[in-house]
Amino acid sequence: MTEKELILTTVKQCRRVDLYIDPLPLTPEQQFHLKEIHSRRQQGEPIQYILGSCEFLGIPLRVDSRVLVPRPETELLVETAVNLIREFKKTPARVLDLGTGSGNIAISLAKMVDSIDVTAVDISAEALALAKENAGDNGVLSKIKFVESDLFMNLKNHLLKNQLFDIIVSNPPYILTSQISELPSDVQHEPLLALDGGADGLKFYRRILAEAPAFLKAGGKIVWEIGDNQAESICELILRNRKLCHCEPEGRSNPNNMDCGSTLLTILSLSKDFVAPLGLLAMTNNQFFEITDCIKDLNGKERILILEKIDG
Ligand SMILES: C[S@@+](CC[C@H](N)C(=O)[O-])C[C@H]1O[C@@H](n2cnc3c(N)ncnc32)[C@H](O)[C@@H]1O
Repeated sequence: MTEKELILTTVKQCRRVDLYIDPLPLTPEQQFHLKEIHSRRQQGEPIQYILGSCEFLGIPLRVDSRVLVPRPETELLVETAVNLIREFKKTPARVLDLGTGSGNIAISLAKMVDSIDVTAVDISAEALALAKENAGDNGVLSKIKFVESDLFMNLKNHLLKNQLFDIIVSNPPYILTSQISELPSDVQHEPLLALDGGADGLKFYRRILAEAPAFLKAGGKIVWEIGDNQAESICELILRNRKLCHCEPEGRSNPNNMDCGSTLLTILSLSKDFVAPLGLLAMTNNQFFEITDCIKDLNGKERILILEKIDG
């Protein structure tokens, strides 16, 4: 639907088709409602906040200024995760959603996969309250645990019970702090917490790389949404995070010598067996990550990265 159609179907409480087959004039109340919507829109408020809802993978969600408006690119993250879960063939699949916001990722996974146990984390209590409402509205509350936490901070009980995750999914904040004031005005209405990825936009990828190994099973995956043109920087980050040198291939003992950026796309198009010898690894206490895939969005931009945890 176009934005105009979206507004009119909301104001007239009708279906899209009714706008064309039965175009009744607006009542005075509807005219007042329409004016109100236009004036909020003129202030730059996102249309989804004004209408109070949006759709993600065909699933209706409530949204307001407590959460980021789910983006179409993130649907690709969910589709990727669903394919990985089906490959695992393990039931129930144990999935961690870091930075759940409106709950769009957790809820769509819970609706698309029958046997799944999702833990949805956010640092914002306000976002979690809305995510819970959305899970209830969509009938999947029993499949999702909501945890208020700064990333993994409050998940220590999972470790105590040895309840490791099969997959960690995350669409973390990835905008550079310095670029936030230049964003379009509707984006500036969204919570800063959902946008700000730190000075280089990579703060959350760095933290997740360092903290995730303890929470993931061997062979477990991380599925990340990444920002425009971040694939090469994240590749460099993974290289720099490599701590032990025994995985270093001959003649490449200094990671800084690797021409990582320019070779990333070639590396990612190679088979998994070839990626590891090239040293595309992040290592923490003999546990490290290997990039196994990079998926482009409909605009041809690298958007989803898949990492696999290897226990060395
Ligand atoms: C880019 S939004 C993604 C929201 C939603 N998952 C989506 O895909 O639309 C990032 C989310 O991470 C949350 N967040 C920010 N810092 C966090 C932290 N330290 N720990 C956990 N969640 C955090 C924000 O509150 C926000 O909801």
